[in-house]
Amino acid sequence: MNVHHKLLVSLPLILLLSLSGFTLSSQVYASDKDRSSMMRYRNLFMETKGKHAKAIKLLIKSKLSLKHIITHGEALAAMADDMLILFPAGTAGGKSRVTDNIWDKNGKLTDDFVAKVTDMRSQAREFVRVAKEGNYKKIKKQMGRFANKGCRSCHTDYRGEEFEPKK
Ligand code: HEC
Repeated sequence: MNVHHKLLVSLPLILLLSLSGFTLSSQVYASDKDRSSMMRYRNLFMETKGKHAKAIKLLIKSKLSLKHIITHGEALAAMADDMLILFPAGTAGGKSRVTDNIWDKNGKLTDDFVAKVTDMRSQAREFVRVAKEGNYKKIKKQMGRFANKGCRSCHTDYRGEEFEPKK
């Protein structure tokens, strides 16, 4: 067997190994530190989304800058798919409000949760499209739809009660 041939034979094996490594890493935790970093980062990420949405609402009301409305909308569209890496199995509990039903029994995100992420992306993209046309009445209407179908619908199903510190 020449070197070239050996490479060809081992390629599928390498692929298989790296794929199984990938699924493992989403289910098993290296350390509690990684887990708490992910949960802290998720909190920052969510709050950032919240700030983008608040900024958009203020900008619509005050008509300060159409350009910035588009910028915040584009940021939210880009952040939608990034949501998929924020919820590795085992990151519920503590101060987190995420409910256990976002994972199936194998620790994979459920199809419904992934569909809600997709809704966020398509609503955000539609928002950017409408914003670029510059009609504030339409922008406001689409922002309302975005907030309902791209944010609230997921919160209703997958965000639990607010964490209350023990007194
Ligand atoms: C696919 C589901 C999903 C979508 C879509 C979604 N969120 Fe969330 N959001 C969550 C979950 C789950 C939490 C709770 C996370 C936690 O506590 O660990 C959360 C938390 C938050 C928080 C609270 C921050 C915190 O960690 O307590 C804000 C603010 C927020 N989301 C804003 C938004 C905005 C704005 C949108 C739409 C642009 C949006 N979210 C879309 C699932 C979603």
